[in-house]
Amino acid sequence: MTAEPADFDALYFRSALGRFPTGVTVITTEAREDHQPIGLTISSFNSVSLDPPLVLWTLTKTASSLVHFQHSERYVIHVLAAQQRALARKFARGSQASRFEDVELTHAPNGALMLDDPQCTAWFECYNHSQVEAGDHFIFIGQVERCHRGSGQPLVYHAGDFDLTPSAKPLSRL
Ligand SMILES: Cc1cc2nc3c(=O)[nH]c(=O)nc-3n(C[C@H](O)[C@H](O)[C@H](O)COP(=O)(O)O)c2cc1C
Repeated sequence: MTAEPADFDALYFRSALGRFPTGVTVITTEAREDHQPIGLTISSFNSVSLDPPLVLWTLTKTASSLVHFQHSERYVIHVLAAQQRALARKFARGSQASRFEDVELTHAPNGALMLDDPQCTAWFECYNHSQVEAGDHFIFIGQVERCHRGSGQPLVYHAGDFDLTPSAKPLSRL
């Protein structure tokens, strides 16, 4: 059996996908050759498996950072908080150097470059487990080696905007 061809255009498909609200992450690593920091905003993050602990995210084949993530050993996925809209926008445009201007950096326990930002509501240090080619994207599967959970409200992405993001007060139920 084969799939029927789509009866919609890419713009309509994209806007339908946008009705699914997601969180927002910034994913960081460093270039193998010169250790230059590499990072970008990603909303396609999701959980895969608890045992072993696996997560996934997808990256367009046209991303200039693709080659760096394909060859990196580890990366860190930072889940952004409600008050980090500007960071989400910053890491979705401009040069790699400009994204890291005025951004404090540190290293996760197993050595991956990460943001030194206590506002992030969680972070996951991942071993670069595998990559699957899927259409115009690659699916990255990360094996989580270390993680940390905070208590802030999440930044929420929906229909191309952050307007479903709740007010930035700490969550009481955690
Ligand atoms: C909220 C938000 C979510 C995004 N999610 C993704 C994503 O899941 N996958 C992707 O390939 N690009 C995503 N992008 C776009 C990238 O952040 C953007 O194309 C970035 O400039 C790519 O960087 P690079 O070309 O330097 O690698 C997202 C952008 C925003 C603002």
